[in-house]
Amino acid sequence: MKSFEFNSYGNDIVAHNKTLFTEFSLDLFKPECLVANDVLQYRRMRAQDVNGRGGVHTFIFGGQDLVLRHYYRGGMISKYIYDSYLWQGLYKSRAMNELQMLSKMQAMSLPVPIPVAAHIQKNGFLYKADIITQLIPQALSCSTILIRNTISAEVWQNIGSVIRRFHDKGCNHADLNAHNILLNEKNCVFLVDFDKSQIETRSGSWKQRNLVRLKRSLLKLKNTEANFNYSEQDFKSLMQGYNSD
Ligand SMILES: Nc1ncnc2c1ncn2[C@@H]1O[C@H](COP(=O)(O)OP(=O)(O)O)[C@@H](O)[C@H]1O
Ligand SMILES: [Mg+2]
Repeated sequence: MKSFEFNSYGNDIVAHNKTLFTEFSLDLFKPECLVANDVLQYRRMRAQDVNGRGGVHTFIFGGQDLVLRHYYRGGMISKYIYDSYLWQGLYKSRAMNELQMLSKMQAMSLPVPIPVAAHIQKNGFLYKADIITQLIPQALSCSTILIRNTISAEVWQNIGSVIRRFHDKGCNHADLNAHNILLNEKNCVFLVDFDKSQIETRSGSWKQRNLVRLKRSLLKLKNTEANFNYSEQDFKSLMQGYNSD
């Protein structure tokens, strides 16, 4: 984490990428502050374009297009606990884990968003957190694309070979699904959403589990969306790409 600078403001901790910004204020994590400053050109991404649990906010700061995400809980527990997590130390927080993972994967030249900053707000034995990354321009998730369009066999193969690159470097994406694979207008593949992910030092069943999870997510969308352009052949193409050297 040597390219990150840490600052504390009472219960708030901000880590920012000092190779990108000399200073990074706590206000940049607050949508109400972003809205209030016209220079930042704040936008909330449209719900039909993104599948995040909470809002995905974009703004421009220091000439860079940035994305702000707040961490929200998923699953059953989210009915009771909205966005608080149990404090187990700074580096175990969602935001710091994702910042660190992105930083390592950037160093491995893997296609992920460039990490910009993380914010952790401590409150006793709980914390809330946010992360800011650089925007991947003109990118939509596979889930959004498949509702509108098909994805060609060549692009499916490319998705498979990109997943394989992550696996070869030991990157275990704990939540690989159709929402977390993005394609830009040139069909370049990016993976996002690494807060629960980790680098594995051993090869093992985790690679298979990633692929099973992705397939399950595509099948689930096929069953729940009125028009979802996914067929079994598509996953075969993906696996062709995954298994080719
Ligand atoms: N850096 C980024 N550039 C472009 N889009 C992004 C970026 N980060 C997130 N998104 C969009 O926001 C959505 C939600 O972000 P994600 O990291 O998956 O959070 P969540 O935990 O809410 O699923 C993604 O599916 C993607 O469409
Ligand atoms: Mg996601």
